[in-house]
Amino acid sequence: MTDNKISNFGNVTKVTTHVLHEMKLKNEKIAMLTAYDYSMARLLDTAGIDVILVGDSASNVMAGHTSTLPITLNEMIYHGSSVVRAVNRALVVVDMPFGTYQGNSKEALNSAIRIMKETGADAVKLEGGSEVRESVERILSAGIPIMGHLGLTPQSIHKFGTYVVRATEESEANKLVEDAHLLEEAGCFAIVLEKIPAKLATSVAAAVKIPIIGIGAGPGVDGQVLVLHDMLGITQEFSPRFLRRYNNLSEEIMGSVSAYIHDVKSVDFPNNKEQY
Ligand code: KIV
Repeated sequence: MTDNKISNFGNVTKVTTHVLHEMKLKNEKIAMLTAYDYSMARLLDTAGIDVILVGDSASNVMAGHTSTLPITLNEMIYHGSSVVRAVNRALVVVDMPFGTYQGNSKEALNSAIRIMKETGADAVKLEGGSEVRESVERILSAGIPIMGHLGLTPQSIHKFGTYVVRATEESEANKLVEDAHLLEEAGCFAIVLEKIPAKLATSVAAAVKIPIIGIGAGPGVDGQVLVLHDMLGITQEFSPRFLRRYNNLSEEIMGSVSAYIHDVKSVDFPNNKEQY
């Protein structure tokens, strides 16, 4: 330990919630990506990502569901523990799945405790503001750090009816600002703002002391998050305006698989050096 805020594991300085707070104070942007498995998490951590979110987007990109609602607590724990085993430096946050924290704060606390105990993650994330206040307070009272999530909250897709940009109307924007203050005052260490006007996100980031991580919320926040499979171009069907693709891995993977199929069928593989 170098001090009570930053821990040293070997020569790696572990990212903690305190480190993220200091990054905001220093105006140093926070880079966050999702991961759901050991191999990808290891690459992200080695590359120097600050925060890995084991998102319930696993429901879409890993399991092929059309929404985040079906994924279970056991499935999130499986993904979370796989990621944690790979990570030395990044802060690991695990999403609380739909139905494990809304409306019953005792169940919320039990779900959060299971995530922390069984995955070894550093924090949990959950969606909503005043509606989940009791759950937020009860989880925090057990010393479990929470990242909030406001704006487009995919677990409420059946209430919204659409994935369009949120909080464009004054009343919804005002509620979002109130919820951001509520989450900060309750003790959340950070908030994700998804798909809201950039101006609104910038004003929220300026109004609260905790880091604001944006996805489709413009550049005026304290950090950015993207879904790994979208930014690597593994998924092709999802193309919102806010998504920057850093690769086209679906083509590269299919190209490699086609070449392998060709080599197997033509008995080019294995060759003389690739056998015993
Ligand atoms: O589940 C997820 O991947 C998320 C991000 C979109 C923030 O919540």
